[in-house]
Amino acid sequence: MGAGKSTAAKSLDSSALDTDRIIEQESGLTVAEIFARDGEVAFRDLEQRTAIDAINRAAAGEGGGVVSLGGGALNSEAIRSALKEHVVVMLDISVEEAWRRCSGSQRPLASDREAFWRLHAERESSYLAAADAMLPASTRSAVKEALPAIRRIAESDHRVKLLWASTGGGSYPVFVGSGMLGTFDPGIDGRSALIGDRNVASLYFDRFEESLARIEFPAGEINKTITTCSEIWREMAGAHVTREDHVVAVGGGVVGDVAGFAAAAYQRGIPVVHWPTTVVAQVDSSLGGKTGVDIPEGKNYVGAFHQPAAVVSDFDALSTLPKDEYSSGMAEVIKTALIAGGSLWERVIDGQLLDPDMVLACARTKIAIVSSDEFDSGMRQLLNLGHTVGHAIETATNYSRLRHGEAVGIGLLAALQLSGAGQLRDSVSQLLLANGLPTSVEGVDIEAALHAVKSDKKARSDGSVPFVLCSEPGSVTFGNAVDASDLETAMREVLT
Ligand SMILES: NC(=O)c1ccc[n+]([C@@H]2O[C@H](COP(=O)([O-])OP(=O)(O)OC[C@H]3O[C@@H](n4cnc5c(N)ncnc54)[C@H](O)[C@@H]3O)[C@@H](O)[C@H]2O)c1
Repeated sequence: MGAGKSTAAKSLDSSALDTDRIIEQESGLTVAEIFARDGEVAFRDLEQRTAIDAINRAAAGEGGGVVSLGGGALNSEAIRSALKEHVVVMLDISVEEAWRRCSGSQRPLASDREAFWRLHAERESSYLAAADAMLPASTRSAVKEALPAIRRIAESDHRVKLLWASTGGGSYPVFVGSGMLGTFDPGIDGRSALIGDRNVASLYFDRFEESLARIEFPAGEINKTITTCSEIWREMAGAHVTREDHVVAVGGGVVGDVAGFAAAAYQRGIPVVHWPTTVVAQVDSSLGGKTGVDIPEGKNYVGAFHQPAAVVSDFDALSTLPKDEYSSGMAEVIKTALIAGGSLWERVIDGQLLDPDMVLACARTKIAIVSSDEFDSGMRQLLNLGHTVGHAIETATNYSRLRHGEAVGIGLLAALQLSGAGQLRDSVSQLLLANGLPTSVEGVDIEAALHAVKSDKKARSDGSVPFVLCSEPGSVTFGNAVDASDLETAMREVLT
């Protein structure tokens, strides 16, 4: 409700069919009047018949093939079933924004704030299950911009869903599905330079046909350096990669960050398409446009914001991921679920296994946050939950003892302790163990780790470091000052 379905449908085709309008025209009454006169059950009955008829008419080409459905339409099993043959586009809107738009209107189900919140939550699961494409309701032009990508998933033989990321620095499609590696065409013009680490190159490069260059570098965080970038730039120049071409980054977060930064700086910036192949990369690092490299003084100290031209997440790529790497990625899934709360958190805390829908839900959470804060000055800091201590542990151990996700998992426990959320800390601790992740690390010099926290990139000029805290799933805040002794206690708890 209030997401702008009618306007979006009309922007695709001015004759788009709109079920609420059809009902109003045919009955001569407004939806509110039908609700008042006949009740909701009678309205839903009418809506079901009208929607199924409109879907069939659109399938025959009427209204440019576009139907705008009423907000409650997906409660009907018959409508959901009629939609299975078609591409369903969901306009993603937060309940707060929907309420802002709807309260005070004539809409019969938007008079009571609490009931509205409940309704939004009740409807969410049927919306998520039906949606093939999820577009931000906040960007008016999103439907038009995303149309080529929507057509691409409609015409694809792959099982693929679409998220549309919209930021000031550019909008891009995120395709999530299975069986796509190297065969799905995300629709980016020009020739490509393929970049991956050696592990991924040997597994997957041959799936990608023509490319100007196939550039490999040794795997591991230790190679996330400017030296690696420099070698990549020289290979790209040697292969005559031009500004009309683009980088195709195939791999985990290290490849994405390095290849993304190489693309951001090569000839002052060429497009990059990410094909993330780790859990970390699919749920987190490939999205949002942060690219960069490490220096001895700190992780990700040098880099650039460079939004991808497209992201293609093939869940099947995770089947070759070593078990430890998979587990490590689950820390980012847990972090994302803590931030999102709601149905994603419930699935994760229930111990449900990762599947393409969960990857999609995590990606949707990340995209919603980064879209509201492209350059990391506000909301985006929420994504650093667990990262301040996590990064400090990585720095204090010279990136050699723990995987990134393992360090983040431990950092989450410290952050939850600092949040005063003891019970949640215990639940997350259990969740980490169930996913094969450590809940503490031995032999780390506490002074070195505390020093690394103070050198965090987010440190303020007065020396304090703002923390992201989480009081309960879905309630996360950033910019919190924490007491130095509380920090030391929380760190001692995880550095045994
Ligand atoms: N840019 C961002 O917003 C962002 C966000 C989170 C993390 N990161 C960065 O991501 C990095 C961590 O990423 P990661 O955990 O993906 O590590 P990674 O890229 O090092 O990959 C982990 C290992 O898995 C191998 N691998 C990758 N895909 C595989 C596959 N499908 N099958 C078999 N092996 C495969 C790699 O070769 C590597 O050895 C860190 O550098 C972190 O800073 C960036």
